[in-house]
Amino acid sequence: MSRDYVIDQMISAKTIDARIEELAQDIRSAFGGTEKLVVVGLLRGSFVFIADLVRELDFDVEVDFLEASSYGGSTESSREVRILKDLRGEIGGRDVLVVEDIVDTGFTLSHVVRLLRSRNPRRLETIALLDKPSRREVDIKATWTGFEIPDEFVVGYGIDYAQHNRNLPFIGKVRFS
Ligand code: IMP
Repeated sequence: MSRDYVIDQMISAKTIDARIEELAQDIRSAFGGTEKLVVVGLLRGSFVFIADLVRELDFDVEVDFLEASSYGGSTESSREVRILKDLRGEIGGRDVLVVEDIVDTGFTLSHVVRLLRSRNPRRLETIALLDKPSRREVDIKATWTGFEIPDEFVVGYGIDYAQHNRNLPFIGKVRFS
């Protein structure tokens, strides 16, 4: 059973919407001439973000998903990332955009980027809805970031706490009581 907690709104649905429009413009400028961009969502936390983001893109995209899970080793910095579900499609020679919910320590995104680069895409960029720079242990930054946030545990807009709260339309901060 999870501990009792309350959720305080941190980023409203309206603010997220507005930011996604801006991010989509950046992506359109970067990839507008690409033939069928492959948009890769990292499950499960990015499913709402990717759904909203691709609907702001006015060119053809292919959507694929990858699920990675990180396990604590003896120390946090020896964290191992495993691929639980791989892409269905090939990305060799293609333009790829990896969509992440939160970059926290950075282990997940750096592992996924290394893996996907080994498949020789023509171009690979990354986008994260949220970034907690103060938590970083691996030197990585997404090409585009929605919002930088402090070291708080957040939920909503696809992001969970023990599989709860993914369906909240806003990003909320979990406050344990
Ligand atoms: P990293 O490998 O430490 O960067 O972890 C990234 C993953 O940890 C994210 O994709 C989330 O699934 C999870 N995560 C990190 N911070 C939070 C949070 O505040 N709430 C929920 N999940 C989080």
